[in-house]
Amino acid sequence: MENWALPIAMLLTSTIAAGFDGGSSVAESSIPTTLDGPFTPVSVNLEDEGFRGNAVDLPETDPRVVRRVKGFEPDQISVSLSVSADAVWISWVSGDFQMADRIQPLNPASVASTVRYGRLRNYLTFKATGHSLIYNQIYPFAGMRNYSSGIIHHVLLTGLEPDTRYFYRCGDPSIPAMSTTRAFKTMPVSGPKSYPKRIAVVGDLGLTYNTTSTVNHMKENKPDLILLLGDVTYANLYLTNGTGSDCYSCSFPNTPIHETYQPRWDYWARFMEPTISEIPIMVVEGNHEKEEQANGRTFEAYSSRFAFPGEESGSHSTFYYSFKAGGIHFIMLGAYVSYNKSEFSEIAVDRQGGGDQYKWLQRDLAAVDRTVTPWLIATWHAPWYSTYKSHYREVECMRVEMEELLYSNGVDIVLTGHVSSSRLRIVEMHV
Ligand SMILES: *[C@@H]1O[C@H](CO)[C@@H](O)[C@H](O)[C@H]1NC(C)=O
Ligand SMILES: *[C@@H]1O[C@H](CO)[C@@H](O)[C@H](O)[C@H]1NC(C)=O
Ligand SMILES: *[C@@H]1O[C@H](CO)[C@@H](O)[C@H](O)[C@H]1NC(C)=O
Ligand SMILES: *[C@@H]1O[C@H](CO)[C@@H](O)[C@H](O)[C@H]1NC(C)=O
Repeated sequence: MENWALPIAMLLTSTIAAGFDGGSSVAESSIPTTLDGPFTPVSVNLEDEGFRGNAVDLPETDPRVVRRVKGFEPDQISVSLSVSADAVWISWVSGDFQMADRIQPLNPASVASTVRYGRLRNYLTFKATGHSLIYNQIYPFAGMRNYSSGIIHHVLLTGLEPDTRYFYRCGDPSIPAMSTTRAFKTMPVSGPKSYPKRIAVVGDLGLTYNTTSTVNHMKENKPDLILLLGDVTYANLYLTNGTGSDCYSCSFPNTPIHETYQPRWDYWARFMEPTISEIPIMVVEGNHEKEEQANGRTFEAYSSRFAFPGEESGSHSTFYYSFKAGGIHFIMLGAYVSYNKSEFSEIAVDRQGGGDQYKWLQRDLAAVDRTVTPWLIATWHAPWYSTYKSHYREVECMRVEMEELLYSNGVDIVLTGHVSSSRLRIVEMHV
């Protein structure tokens, strides 16, 4: 999306359980399908030009993005879902990132990944342990600075009761460096009469003052789940020296690899922590997460920082996966890895795993039981259908490859981000 664009947000509220039964009056034959196209793009101007160009980033001095913990105490805590209501992921960062000439990356094994949790705030009787990692963002060119992350921890909590509030603390108890107590609620059990009450859907979020109003609005509406449909921090609108830029394509004409300023990820995760350490967030990649670096590596921050149910949903990938939230089966698709019917993607097999998105999607759809999850919702970053001139038919190849498969499996709703050219939208859907 354009750098000036505002986050796209909507709230799916459930009465979704009632289904689409209120007789549609639209004559189906009058709606052209994409197969009748290509059409000439139609752009609707923003009503208020003032909405453009003034999405101002939070500076690194903003108290909401400054590191508040000491030593190896947990920072940037978040919750995300596994495939079903009985498990969630807890993620956090310990230790600070480094950006210096000679970096000695932190040793991930030096800090334990432990979560203590339970149903009573002062009685955290269960314990789970997980894994940890670091990632580097390397630019072997004169004048550019490298980055090495803090230690990123991911712990899967299993055996949870559905629709239940759990309290937790995460960290390394031996240091000791444990977080304060937080709480999250599991999804309701999957079934045709069981739904999360409210789901917030946001794309192209960034870390601007507009992001803060979007996130505040989202929080006030008390969603049970947040979907973030790509374009997370816009760290790639920065040079490695921390200088921001207004225009993605015109300000980096001569850099051998497009630069990023990785601390923006840490700032973003700190800003989001009060929200996403209590409300589960599910993320899928956008174009701004690509973040090329040395040795052809891409998507390192995205793939390292979030926990995804890739193993649990059989995709073995961070780029695409599925999960259930009550009676909804969500499919998160990757618009920036291969989606061809007969093509294995090298980029998706490196650290991020997977590589065969189309075949995985076939298997995943075949396994959906509509008596358990009557609703089938698919999401990815870039829309297949848009009349706006910017990004017009940009992912047409993905549509050509996958549309028939989604259509023939009766996907009910598709949610995307990317084309944020309309003003900020908060849509309450009562379906
Ligand atoms: C960044 O890392 C690369 C690979 O190790 C190295 O060649 C380069 O000199 C480093 N850059 C700086 C500024 O330290
Ligand atoms: C976005 O934030 C800017 C200030 O940074 C403000 O002037 C503008 O009104 C905001 N836009 C919206 C849609 O909230
Ligand atoms: C970062 O580099 C750019 C381009 O060389 C320069 O214009 C800017 O002043 C630098 N910023 C800092 C903080 O050094
Ligand atoms: C993938 O599919 C698209 C659209 O069908 C096609 O244009 C492209 O050439 C395919 N890529 C490969 C590597 O086969």
